[in-house]
Amino acid sequence: MDRVTEESTTVTIIGAGPAGLVLANLLAAAGIACTVVERSSRVHVEQRARAGFLAANTVRVLTGAGLADGLLKHGRRHDTCAFRTASGEFELAYGGLGRGEVHTVYPQQDLVRDLVAAFLDRGGDLRFETAAVAVDGLGTDRPAVTTRGPDGALRRLSGRFVAGCDGRHGIARTAVPAGAVRRYRRDHGVSWLALLAAAPQSMAAVAYGVHPDGFAGHMARTPDVTRYYLQCPRGDDPAAWTDDRIWTALGARLRADRHGPLHRGAILERRVVDMGSDVLDPIQYGRLFLVGDAASLISPSAAKGANLAVMEAELLAAALTALLDGGDERPLARYSADCLPRIWRAQEFSHWMINLLHGPAGDGEEAVFLRALQQARLESLQTSRRHQDHFAENYVGI
Ligand code: APR
Repeated sequence: MDRVTEESTTVTIIGAGPAGLVLANLLAAAGIACTVVERSSRVHVEQRARAGFLAANTVRVLTGAGLADGLLKHGRRHDTCAFRTASGEFELAYGGLGRGEVHTVYPQQDLVRDLVAAFLDRGGDLRFETAAVAVDGLGTDRPAVTTRGPDGALRRLSGRFVAGCDGRHGIARTAVPAGAVRRYRRDHGVSWLALLAAAPQSMAAVAYGVHPDGFAGHMARTPDVTRYYLQCPRGDDPAAWTDDRIWTALGARLRADRHGPLHRGAILERRVVDMGSDVLDPIQYGRLFLVGDAASLISPSAAKGANLAVMEAELLAAALTALLDGGDERPLARYSADCLPRIWRAQEFSHWMINLLHGPAGDGEEAVFLRALQQARLESLQTSRRHQDHFAENYVGI
């Protein structure tokens, strides 16, 4: 049997995505010892392009913690989205609607890089290429995470708490005994070809193209890189989408003939994402607390994933600090109850966005009916100021 080295910490954090890194930085700032273990290499996590739309609450949390230098310097304000349909284009300048909140566009890999640097600068214990392979003792007051490092050596990190920030396929979720949590889930039945193009954005706003061929999306990232999405059949092979085919489909669905051409460039990334959502309830079990995708997976239709992760990390950091610093157990006991209503609000809005952006194909009775509902939804959003305010509040809010 492999030899296992015993170590101890206060909070063991599994995963160095936005959830784990924000939590680690907030705990370190509060003087609480924590160890972060991350299965992938530093280069991998710092280059993994994912989301990029930071909600006002996310910017507030990061600014308050002194973690926002990069995003305040290089992030770009974003306050308008546009819908392109058969009947034309309408824009919603959401920065002037609802609560007047805007997004900051800052690529997630840049934020991750900033958060890694900030944690290491504070002398934080962050172990890359180190996978959590077992979790035990969750029902005791010394839960432990066994890890395997790059040298193959096993270490058992015991502490007072474990934070499962290891994403949708992580070990933390599976460490909860069957029957202790309920998993709500939905497959939205829609897939997107997620694309990164080496090209500047083609218009100032986020654009949503609603088209009989399927949905197309346009989202800014950096001055040289733009994110696009194309709805595609489930199980489609990304390799079958040549650059030419992609630009032709994007041009048609975003109606470039009417609204102006797209700035083309090489396609840097193409992968198929199946729209799925799930929510665990509760998101804590014994001394284990789930944060980010580990707690709830949300479809990318409204760019909520990273923003929910930061909201939860802030609540958990505050709750752990209240207990470890001040002996107050109540915020930690309430962690799940505090997060879940916000998670469900975000899920509800994302689900509504899916139905706004996608109409089922075909001439069947139900498909035709659902497409008429989609049209009514778009019209309501285009014409009702109250609907627009409600949309804006949910689009940027968490
Ligand atoms: N041991 C160590 N690390 C692990 C393990 C494991 N057994 N399993 C997974 N991980 C790591 C992954 O390598 C990944 O870096 O956990 C990290 C989880 O990070 P994310 O998937 O980014 O999850 P999260 O931090 O919750 O992200 C929040 O940001 O862009 C969005 O789609 C993303 O919605 C998600 C959100």
